[in-house]
Amino acid sequence: MENLLMEDIELYVENHTTAEDDVLRQLRRKTNLTTTMPRQLSGPVQGKLLEMFSRMINPEYILEIGTFTGYSAYCLAKGLKQGGKLHTIEVKDELEEPLLTFFSKAGISDKVQLHIGDGAEIVKNLDIKFDMAFIDGDKRQYPEYYENVFPKIKVGGYILIDNVLWYDKVISQPKENDAYTKGIIELNDIVQNDDRVDNVLVPIRDGLTVARKLRD
Ligand SMILES: C[S@@+](CC[C@H](N)C(=O)[O-])C[C@H]1O[C@@H](n2cnc3c(N)ncnc32)[C@H](O)[C@@H]1O
Repeated sequence: MENLLMEDIELYVENHTTAEDDVLRQLRRKTNLTTTMPRQLSGPVQGKLLEMFSRMINPEYILEIGTFTGYSAYCLAKGLKQGGKLHTIEVKDELEEPLLTFFSKAGISDKVQLHIGDGAEIVKNLDIKFDMAFIDGDKRQYPEYYENVFPKIKVGGYILIDNVLWYDKVISQPKENDAYTKGIIELNDIVQNDDRVDNVLVPIRDGLTVARKLRD
């Protein structure tokens, strides 16, 4: 599709989606001012979709790999059951202090447990069965995240995976040969061939996979 048309559609979609609240607007502004790659955050449309999924599932436990500045964490936390918890994992320790400050200011500190370290490793040691997971860390590690996250999800629970089209790079394969694109292509094939899940690839932004766990 022409770039201009894509931009027009994105704008129209955003203009016909409930606007982000003040907390998210301020977080997006701060992320733009203080980080080098602010486009990493989910943004208003995907953020609202994550919130909707979370409210529909009404999870007791949510897992997230790749917290960044906390935009998606805040959206996901909105749908938690009373007393529920979001475990979110971020590898960059310089994000710990701003994240804890943000969760406190946003009034969700009691709902969020932040882990600093490698999501693929940390998840192995979490003795929790999650209702929902959102995978949004290092694209090269996607197959490993999926393998390690899968056993931690309840039967009937959901795994959401971001950036599964990686702009147009997944489609441009085999021209695109970088490790990030390869990781995503490998993951997409693993999910598609995994008969333990039902899955749909939603073409929002640069692709969001939603997989429902059918059995262990
Ligand atoms: C795309 S951003 C996440 C955006 C966030 N989920 C949102 O929507 O606002 C990816 C984040 O994953 C983090 N990350 C990369 N590798 C990771 C790993 N192995 N474990 C946990 N986090 C990781 C990066 O430091 C970065 O902050």
